[in-house]
Amino acid sequence: MNQHLLDKQPVADQPTPMIDPFGRQITYLRVSVTDRCDFRCTYCMAENMTFLPKRDLLTLEELERLCNAFIDKGVRKLRLTGGEPLMRKNVMQLIRNLGKRIGEGALDELTLTTNGSQLARFADDLHAAGVRRINVSLDTLDPQKFREITRWGDFHKVMAGLEAARKAGLKVKLNAVALAGFNEHEIPELLRFAHDNGMDLTLIEAMPLGEVDTDRSSQYLPLSKVRRDLEENFTLTDIPMTTGGPARFVTVAETGGKLGFITPLSHNFCASCNRVRLTCTGMLYLCLGHDDNADFRKVLRDNPDDDAVLHRAIDSAIARKPEEHNFELDETHSRVAVARHMSMTGG
Ligand code: 5AD
Ligand code: SF4
Repeated sequence: MNQHLLDKQPVADQPTPMIDPFGRQITYLRVSVTDRCDFRCTYCMAENMTFLPKRDLLTLEELERLCNAFIDKGVRKLRLTGGEPLMRKNVMQLIRNLGKRIGEGALDELTLTTNGSQLARFADDLHAAGVRRINVSLDTLDPQKFREITRWGDFHKVMAGLEAARKAGLKVKLNAVALAGFNEHEIPELLRFAHDNGMDLTLIEAMPLGEVDTDRSSQYLPLSKVRRDLEENFTLTDIPMTTGGPARFVTVAETGGKLGFITPLSHNFCASCNRVRLTCTGMLYLCLGHDDNADFRKVLRDNPDDDAVLHRAIDSAIARKPEEHNFELDETHSRVAVARHMSMTGG
């Protein structure tokens, strides 16, 4: 074959977009960079958690290589989660390097879901690295109750973190897990707090992920009820806005802000799913509600110099993405649907 013909050959390993068997294009990757956390939220973790040995974790370099492979395969939005992502040693190095892909036009958004405990320290660096929006988990405005739900968290540190984020120019969305008998009656206050301070609020229905010490059935609070209660005092209007995620949004006339509802149990948002999730050990989960995963740690370590192999492994994983999740709760909402904790796959 002469050189001329060779030039015409298609580039065999040019990364192609990820389209799953149901025609959904995958453009969103969530990456748990650590399973560790400085909190022990009762709905998320047991008090005595056994964390992964360090050798099982992807190194920061491996995480970066894998994220870059996904960006080359069409991921436009990357969210770092945990555990608490800012607890991972030297995580800013990873964030800075991934942030460069925004400058190159390869990535639209790099974002973080954090508990806020380390934000006072990191807010400026995050902004400098290209992060513009973050999600901060906050379930109550009462310092005592905050301690109760997070077991180890310091409310005032999180407030200082929110202030630092505001000063740094990071747009904050608050996430609150709605819990019966805990913050049910505090939701109007959380809503006013968020909107008065220029933040959106998203409410999340508690999901049965991983064994925890508390009884989930007593915590389950359907957001349909929360919405009905809120509508006694607020005018909520559905809007078609989407963040590419599962939240449904309303505007709140009285505050002028937006409120999101994430209802994994009572609402099916699978048809438009555009995401996959990577754990800190390099397991790719195709769906939050299924245990099927693909081992990218092995692919990375077996092929240290060959990204084409990585791209092909991504294609075969995406080909296995299930059509929808099914948490199949029993009538008491107490059964664990998926054995892994949220801190493994980062929500
Ligand atoms: N159900 C619902 N939300 C959860 N989170 C953690 N565990 C659960 C669960 N079992 C929330 C955190 C955070 C987000 C990443 O997920 O509070 O806001
Ligand atoms: Fe940590 Fe978030 Fe889990 Fe709370 S919900 S223990 S902050 S990972």
